[in-house]
Formats: sequence, structure tokens, C-alpha cells
Amino acid sequence: MLGTDSLVGVVGAGAMGSGIAQVAAVAGHRVVLADADPSAVQRARGGLTKTLAREVEKGRMPAGADSAALGRVTFVEGVNDLGAFANCAIVIEAIIERLDVKRALFSSLEAVVAHDAVLATNTSSLPVAAIGGGCRHPGRVVGVHFFNPAPVMPLVEIVPSLATLPNVTTSARGLVDSWKKTTVLASDTPGFIVNRVARPYYGESIRMLEEGIADAATIDWAMKTLGGFRMGPFELMDFIGHDVNFVVTRSVFEGMSFDPRYRPSVTQQRLVDAGWLGRKSGRGFYDYSSGASAPAPTEDRTLATQLFDRTIAMLVNEAVDAVLMRVASARDIDLALTKGVNYPKGLLAWGEEIGMSTILDRLETLYAEYGEDRYRPSALLRRVVRDGRSLLT
Ligand SMILES: NC(=O)c1ccc[n+]([C@@H]2O[C@H](COP(=O)([O-])OP(=O)(O)OC[C@H]3O[C@@H](n4cnc5c(N)ncnc54)[C@H](O)[C@@H]3O)[C@@H](O)[C@H]2O)c1
Repeated sequence: MLGTDSLVGVVGAGAMGSGIAQVAAVAGHRVVLADADPSAVQRARGGLTKTLAREVEKGRMPAGADSAALGRVTFVEGVNDLGAFANCAIVIEAIIERLDVKRALFSSLEAVVAHDAVLATNTSSLPVAAIGGGCRHPGRVVGVHFFNPAPVMPLVEIVPSLATLPNVTTSARGLVDSWKKTTVLASDTPGFIVNRVARPYYGESIRMLEEGIADAATIDWAMKTLGGFRMGPFELMDFIGHDVNFVVTRSVFEGMSFDPRYRPSVTQQRLVDAGWLGRKSGRGFYDYSSGASAPAPTEDRTLATQLFDRTIAMLVNEAVDAVLMRVASARDIDLALTKGVNYPKGLLAWGEEIGMSTILDRLETLYAEYGEDRYRPSALLRRVVRDGRSLLT
């Protein structure tokens, strides 16, 4: 079992790796944090110093706890020699999202760590089975998928592959639970839970924009006002970055054997082509340059209801289908969306509140109108409506 005395390794000191290192160090672990790029390690050290000091300033950590946590982190510039990880009980990888690079790292790590060390990946979109597939002992490889920013977002998806040994899953989950995170168990399928079930929030909104049903500001307003979402889909996509969001959409589409439900949009492709990546490039669906004014939504509640009803039906259908396909339990699916992407309610609970038969009616209407497979209701949605049963009891 992994305890507070376990040395935790983190490879990749970018946004995710430095956040994961912070979480482990604050929980009392000694941590080794390394990156191939020395400047990334320096940025991580500077970033952690500031972030931890702010936690103390805001009273979220006792005085001195920041320097104590920082003192537990060993920063390693470069990864030519992985010897610094030799005594780690678990190494969490958070490097570039490329299968060949991750596989090479995992086989090198395997050569230096103890026989019972756990190797974990924070991948968002690559199969855990493929990352572990290059290892001599793939049974020790497991997915631990944090959300950004890792110190703030409570959710971690624990993703065993076909080959992962049950005790490896249990001990990785136990460790992350001890860091006061909310863990859910997800199958090693494209997008795991959140990145699969949340796709319609983006995809259906873009589709309604493309059809000219409403503009981005109006759709964002509708989802926030009627749905209580913290960010509208277009604001959220601009925040995530279209390069990142488009890659995830494409990888889920490809991973799901080109199921039209997950088809990426030309609109997002063009934003990426143009370098309009969202907030970080100053332009996405919205203009973030200084002096630019935010477009005003059309505050028409009838239109807003139409936009919200369509999007929520697509989301609930996706959540129900994830239960059908055993991506995770119904409880974990609802937890994942509320704790990983701040949805105001779990989608299954929300669907039951609206009425699963209403959700089914909406999808059937869309399906009849468009004749497109993206609107096909899940077989499980039909079953729960027919049997009048709940997925949450
Ligand atoms: N950013 C997110 O929202 C998010 C959320 C969940 C999971 N993830 C996943 O986490 C991983 C890291 O994402 P990120 O956003 O932190 O990326 P990032 O670009 O901020 O950081 C990646 C770091 O990995 C380093 N690196 C690349 N190749 C390396 C190698 N061979 N050895 C050691 N270091 C190497 C880079 O120098 C860089 O500093 C990816 O797998 C990504 O899919 C990202």
C-alpha cells in the first residue's frame, strides 16, 4: 500500500505535473519533480513557491506549511538520468500527449524503479493499455487523470487498463483518496468519463451556432441562465483552448471508430487553422484584445429554452449511454461531471428531474427532423423510460 511515507515521482513539470506535485507535497509526501526542459522545472519551482505562499496568505494553509511543502520537493532538471526516481513507490507521468514519447518514458522508468512501484499516467486521451503496452510489466501501469488545475479540481479518474493488476488500481486510488480528492473508476475507453460525456456541451452548441439558430453569446447566456452552468460552452472552449479541445474531440471520435455522435466540427478546425486558440491567443469565438467589447446576448427566454433543452437532452443521452457501455457506474458518472467540470448537477439526476421520457421525446424529435445518427437515443434511455426505473437507485 502507498502511504504518506511513499516517495512520489512526477515526470513533466508543466501545468499538470507541477499541480500534481503540489497536491502530493501538501499531503505530506516527499516528491521528485522532473522535466526534460530545465526551464519548465525552473518555472514550476517559481510557480509552486508563489502558489503555496498565496495559500498561506489566504489562510488556507498554516504559516510555514508552504516552505515545508516546498522543502519536500526535489526539482530535477532533465530526464537523461532517471536515477532520481529509483526509490519512488509511484511515478505519475504528465508529459506531452504523445504515445511514442510516453511509451519510451515508461520503459525507461521501469528499468530504474523497484519491482512493485506503480507507474501512473495522467493522459487525457490515450489508451492506458497502449501506454503500458511497451512495459515488461504492464500490470503496474494505471491511469490517474487529474483535472486542471490539479490542486483546485477535486476529481481524479482512476483508469485501470485490461492489464492493470487489481492491487495496483486499489493502491493508486487509495493514495489519491488520501490526498482528499474525489476518485471515480473509469474504463479505459476514449475520453474516460468526463471527456466523453461532456462532448455534446461543445459539439451541440457549435452545431446550433453553425445552423444560425443563435450566436455564441446567446447560447452562453442560455446555458448559464437556464442551466446554471458556470461558463457557457463558447466561453469554456475559449478558456480550454481550441487546440487542446479539438485534439480531445478528434481523439474521442477516432477512438470511437468515427461514431458520428462525436464528429469534430469544421468551425473548431478553422479556429485552430487560423491560430484563434481562445483566451491564450487573444482571439477565439470571442475577441479578448484590449478595447474589444463583449457581444450582447439576445435575451429571449423562448429561444434560450430551445437551446438549453436541446443541449441538455444530448448531454443526458450521452451520460445514459456511458452507463449502458459500462464506462463507469451511474453514481461515478454524476460525480465526475460535478467534480471534474463543475456541472451544477449530475446529468443522470438532472435527466430524472426533467423526466427521462421528456429527454427521449426531444431526441426522437431531433432524430426525426435531421435523420442523423448523432441524435439516436441510447438503448438504455429507451429501457429506463419503458420500465419507469431510475439509474441512480
Ligand atoms: N492541461 C490540461 O487541462 C490537462 C488535464 C488533464 C490531463 N492532461 C494531460 O496531462 C499531460 C500534461 O499536460 P500539460 O497540460 O501539463 O502539458 P504541458 O505542456 O504544460 O507540460 C508538459 C511538460 O512535459 C515536458 N516533457 C515533454 N516530453 C517529456 C519527456 N519525454 N520527459 C520529461 N518531460 C517531458 C515538457 O517539457 C512540458 O514541460 C498530458 O498527457 C495531458 O493530456 C492535461
